[in-house]
Amino acid sequence: MKLTIIGTGYVGLTTGACFAEVGHEVTCVDNNPEKIAMLLKGEIPIFEPGLAELVTKNVAAGRLKFSTSTAEGVESGEVIFIAVPTPPMPDGSVDLSFIEKVAREVAESVQPGQGFKVVVDKSTVPVKTGQKVAETIKRYGPEGVEFGVASNPEFLREGCAIDDLLNPDRIVFGTHDERTADVMRRVYSPFNAPVLATDVESAELIKHAANSFLALKISYINSVARICEKSGADIEMVAEGIGMDERIGRSFLNAGLGYGGSCFPKDIKAFISISESLGYPFELLKQVEEINDSQLDHFLAKIRESLWVFREKKIALWGLAFKQNTDDVRESVAIKLAQKILSEGASISAWDPEAVGTAKKFGNLEGDITYAEDQYSCLDGAEALVIATEWPQFGNADLAEIKKRMRNPIIFDGRNLFDPATVAQQGIEYHSIGRLPVT
Ligand SMILES: NC(=O)c1ccc[n+]([C@@H]2O[C@H](COP(=O)([O-])OP(=O)(O)OC[C@H]3O[C@@H](n4cnc5c(N)ncnc54)[C@H](O)[C@@H]3O)[C@@H](O)[C@H]2O)c1
Repeated sequence: MKLTIIGTGYVGLTTGACFAEVGHEVTCVDNNPEKIAMLLKGEIPIFEPGLAELVTKNVAAGRLKFSTSTAEGVESGEVIFIAVPTPPMPDGSVDLSFIEKVAREVAESVQPGQGFKVVVDKSTVPVKTGQKVAETIKRYGPEGVEFGVASNPEFLREGCAIDDLLNPDRIVFGTHDERTADVMRRVYSPFNAPVLATDVESAELIKHAANSFLALKISYINSVARICEKSGADIEMVAEGIGMDERIGRSFLNAGLGYGGSCFPKDIKAFISISESLGYPFELLKQVEEINDSQLDHFLAKIRESLWVFREKKIALWGLAFKQNTDDVRESVAIKLAQKILSEGASISAWDPEAVGTAKKFGNLEGDITYAEDQYSCLDGAEALVIATEWPQFGNADLAEIKKRMRNPIIFDGRNLFDPATVAQQGIEYHSIGRLPVT
């Protein structure tokens, strides 16, 4: 099938490459000419494992193209996916201006002789956005255009997006007519995954409800971690014991610094705002957000308790990305932590395997911060090591080398990557989440 994706970011580019991989002919459109110029030169604007290889392979096979022209994408595509940003407004509601702009551009480009077109919203949007997209295309498009609208929420996780897209645990799409549903079934026929076909509103709601539930699990386990700290229980064992219950599951029960990234914070805010506008204030989610917001201050208090004052102390920071296996620093808790440490007058030596470039560009890190050449030189002369992202190479680090490099061997581990007893054997002071400190 001929597919067009408007918005070639984390979702658009990875989705486009995977659709091409399963045999569709895909045009990825973006209104950022620099991004498209990079892609046309064979450069990949983001770090995502396996993405570069997939893009190169499918461009060479002639199944994946890039363009800055929405009109070109609308003309060639039988199905037009929208994958543009849906950022939060200051009041927590969703800024839908990017979606509206694309809907208008589609309406202004589409021609009656081009056949039946399906416009699919893949961006995460409030329930009832599909209706607005349909109205916009009708209002601004020419007479006689035949089109359907679908909602097709995306559940990929950055860091393992390619596998998530090629082997999804479910595909959800919502439509209001059988003709559109048939087109969506054909789009996804090469994928071996259960399909849930719903109405548009249910599909839209599924995405916000799913992300909110995952955030709820994170805030829940972080609350349990606080009780562990006060009672001497070990959160890792507690999480294991809870997670072995198959009704609950172990994933998203990792105590840490709380959720961040480009999706959860904005999606939880959005769901709170949507529920309020529909007349049901979702109090439970407000608590989820409050717990999450307090997690960073709780961790900073641990650091302050041990180091006493931050001023003029050198702190090594491992991790800038919002999670492992990505260079994405949007709403990264690691970046927020760095900002707070810097604002209290400490100096930071930072290291991240992939996100130093994006942190310099987008991290808004002002103060005495330098970026190390590698993971271990980052530690030279530091008075404490703070671990903020769960990269596997941090958890596998050589503890003897850490101790040798640092001025004071103290680790504040915001991701519980080490076993406290093993760290203690090395004579390193160790603070983590939901477990008693080893001093
Ligand atoms: N990143 C994720 O892990 C993820 C997962 C699931 C869903 N989502 C949702 O998908 C949507 C996109 O997220 P993302 O992370 O890919 O964002 P992104 O910022 O990485 O990419 C969006 C792209 O859209 C382009 N764009 C904006 N307006 C455009 C226009 N009028 N025409 C053409 N291109 C335009 C931008 O230049 C950018 O390249 C959001 O709604 C997000 O919530 C994201």
